[in-house]
Amino acid sequence: MLKVGLIVGSTRPNRFADKPVQWLLEGASARSDLRLTVLDLRDYRLPFFNEPASPMATGGIFTEPEAEAWRKRIGEFDAFVATVAEYNHGPTAVLKNAFDSTLLEWQRKPIAFVGYGGVGGARAIETLRGAVIELHMAPIRHEVNIAMEPYLGVVQSGRSLNDYAYLVQSREAMFDHLVWWGEALKAARQRTLAGSSVAARGPAS
Ligand SMILES: Cc1cc2nc3c(=O)[nH]c(=O)nc-3n(C[C@H](O)[C@H](O)[C@H](O)COP(=O)(O)O)c2cc1C
Repeated sequence: MLKVGLIVGSTRPNRFADKPVQWLLEGASARSDLRLTVLDLRDYRLPFFNEPASPMATGGIFTEPEAEAWRKRIGEFDAFVATVAEYNHGPTAVLKNAFDSTLLEWQRKPIAFVGYGGVGGARAIETLRGAVIELHMAPIRHEVNIAMEPYLGVVQSGRSLNDYAYLVQSREAMFDHLVWWGEALKAARQRTLAGSSVAARGPAS
């Protein structure tokens, strides 16, 4: 069973993020191929990046204890899902900071995004795709986009994300592909540990 971390990408009070988080946990609980664990950025209290050097220069070690705890926690997972709120056409600062606050433990692991907002968080997700590639991650094609109509349906009309069949289909396709990539990359990382392969670290580009 693949160990998947679910990163909650918004920390503000009464955030919408809790709706997709519960819905993703519900979907994951019906599957036998992955185990989803919530990584709520509210619980980690990460400082905004405050290191004397880039993690590329320190072997991926952080001086801030909260960042050290975060990167060690990230190391426990084989794949990730992040909920993506869109703030001014980009990801939230806390989510981008969470990516910056780990280096090696992200590498060669897949990630999927679940966005919401006017256009389903698509602009913020596209921004994150570039960032996570720089971290040597593998962002998968399948994503969930909770756009204006279902967003308002949940917030204003008491609807459930399960009322939107296309969202449920997107969630399941996303999980299917995340597990495929997660198992493939997990096996490949294990082969690398056992012997030969190229090093994942390299100069920043
Ligand atoms: C500072 C700020 C900027 C926002 N900018 C956008 C935006 O560019 N695009 C969008 O679709 N929604 C935008 N929104 C609306 C958010 O999609 C909406 O508030 C959503 O609930 C935020 O996620 P959260 O509740 O989990 O924090 C913005 C909200 C805030 C607070």
